[in-house]
Amino acid sequence: MNFHLRVWRQRDAKSRGKLVNYDVRDISPDTSFLEMLDILNESLVESGKEPVAFDSDCREGICGTCSLTVNGEAHGPDHPGAVCELYMRKFRDGARITIEPFRVGAFPIVKDLAIDRSALDRIVQAGGFISARAGSAPEANSMLVPKHDADIAMEAAACIGCGACAAACPNGSAMLFTAAKVSHLSFLPQGRPERERRVSKMVQVMDAQGFGNCTNTYECEAVCPAKISASFISKLNREYARAQFRQRLGE
Ligand code: SF4
Ligand code: FES
Repeated sequence: MNFHLRVWRQRDAKSRGKLVNYDVRDISPDTSFLEMLDILNESLVESGKEPVAFDSDCREGICGTCSLTVNGEAHGPDHPGAVCELYMRKFRDGARITIEPFRVGAFPIVKDLAIDRSALDRIVQAGGFISARAGSAPEANSMLVPKHDADIAMEAAACIGCGACAAACPNGSAMLFTAAKVSHLSFLPQGRPERERRVSKMVQVMDAQGFGNCTNTYECEAVCPAKISASFISKLNREYARAQFRQRLGE
């Protein structure tokens, strides 16, 4: 298969970027999208040109490192899945493919397609943990968790922290990410003692990082590779309202 690529090139955070055209030829349909970029980079290096910078690590949809906007869609056209799980057979032969970084004000571009998503780390650092000394792993049945709560906590814990939810949202909102991180702890007994402090701090840092608010467009849910449901945003809002109420009561 042959493809016409339009790739965002930007020297560094302060430079102006632009889309640059490249052709890639004789690509197997079973090549992954990131392998196709590797092939492009090999040919650029062979001809003495600067390769395209992009992020990846596990390349199997679990680490959340890859972060490309493909033809205007965060993670490309094969949802649910991260862009490292996208294969070239998803495109028609001869297709023109536009490749850009995630476009979110809170994720500054480092170079080309590589972005700085440490704003998400700062939200987690604000409260996405339990501070009790938990010791070694307890015997599995010593702390009973209702099946429904355990299932929902596991669903929320599936978030891989990729930031596609913010990239797809017209408001650049990170509420699906924050909702997943808040929910996975608040459904478990270990996370309950700090639930008010956790949600208040995480929402405060989320706002301070410049993410927008949710206006129920559901774009986040549509692109999320971990299938995190937008219903977790309702859970986040309930947790936040509960925390504010209890704070006002002086509890
Ligand atoms: S909620 Fe989904 S899209 Fe957002 S960071 Fe987590 S895995 Fe990525
Ligand atoms: S490289 Fe790890 S999720 Fe894509």
